[in-house]
Amino acid sequence: MPRPTAGRVLKVDPERPAPEAIAEAARVLRAGGLVAFPTETVYGLGADALSAEAVARIYAAKGRPADNPLIVHVGDPEEVWRVAREVPPLARRLMERFWPGPLTLVLPRSPVVPLATTGGLDTVAVRMPSHPVALALVREAGTPVAAPSANRSGRPSPTRAEHVLEDLGEAVDLVLDGGPCPVGVESTVVDVTGPVPVVLRPGGLPREAIEEALGRSVQVGAGPELARRSPGTRYRHYAPSAPLVIASTNELAAVVSGLLSQGKSVGLLAMHDPGIRHERLRARIVEGGLRAYAHELFDALRALDREGCQVIVAEAVEERGLGLAVMDRLRRAAASR
Ligand code: TXA
Ligand code: MG
Repeated sequence: MPRPTAGRVLKVDPERPAPEAIAEAARVLRAGGLVAFPTETVYGLGADALSAEAVARIYAAKGRPADNPLIVHVGDPEEVWRVAREVPPLARRLMERFWPGPLTLVLPRSPVVPLATTGGLDTVAVRMPSHPVALALVREAGTPVAAPSANRSGRPSPTRAEHVLEDLGEAVDLVLDGGPCPVGVESTVVDVTGPVPVVLRPGGLPREAIEEALGRSVQVGAGPELARRSPGTRYRHYAPSAPLVIASTNELAAVVSGLLSQGKSVGLLAMHDPGIRHERLRARIVEGGLRAYAHELFDALRALDREGCQVIVAEAVEERGLGLAVMDRLRRAAASR
């Protein structure tokens, strides 16, 4: 099959995507091409998870280190058996409760999944997305779909089709534009290969919900042990070009004024308006609580960058519910320079 023209965009209704658009995108995937598509968390850059050649194109397009494994997306819970050689009872409980949704499970890899997909690991990360476009696409493709976030490696994850084009443009064969992603931060990655579930990456499904479902506490990975088990956490992440400073609600006004008085142009991402007006201040005040803050996070980092801010100040949030994922992303963005 001839490769479709690079960089094409198809607009789709996020609730009821046109079957022709989905069929077209599924054809591209089956032919070994790359399709960017919306999920409930962020946009994914999809390829046939069972084809080492197709997957190699993902790494090349993103500039992603070869040992950083991909998440494999399935269209049905039963499909987990195609990609995992074992599904422990704990994993089954979580699947029943939270799939489809923003939960990724790390399981023992089935030999049909190439090592290229899992970054050389003998485990595979699997998730069933709930976004109607993602679900329809994975089902129509008829093959599990490997999809990391559709950004250049190191950049904030894309929550709109424009972000995908900004970062990857011509490297993608087709972009399904289904509008902004509802959650705005990536899925929660949980390693269920051992006796105690370990959260390798906090995300759109709160840790508290997992603990409630299992009736036990889960570990949240940290330090060198996390770096060993979750290769992705080793790399530079979520970084706007401008340095990022995290400030508590109480410090916000002082930190922003201080930077302005140094003559800097300042970007601000906050839930509470510190009430400062200045020609060198670009403020993104997000109303609507933590959900809205998570939803806006990556878009705001990209926008403030584009507007030429020399430093970005982000308001810290409590590390509860979605707040754990938000603070994880902010800390990585702040640390990565
Ligand atoms: O919400 C999401 O998860 C999005 C959408 C597109 O589904 N995908 C996503 O993929 O965020 P990516 O590649 O940006 O992040 C995947 C994370 C990385 O931190 C990676 O290291 C980890 O999952 N991961 C993947 N496979 C793994 C494995 N076998 N063992 C441990 N960690 C794994
Ligand atoms: Mg990513």
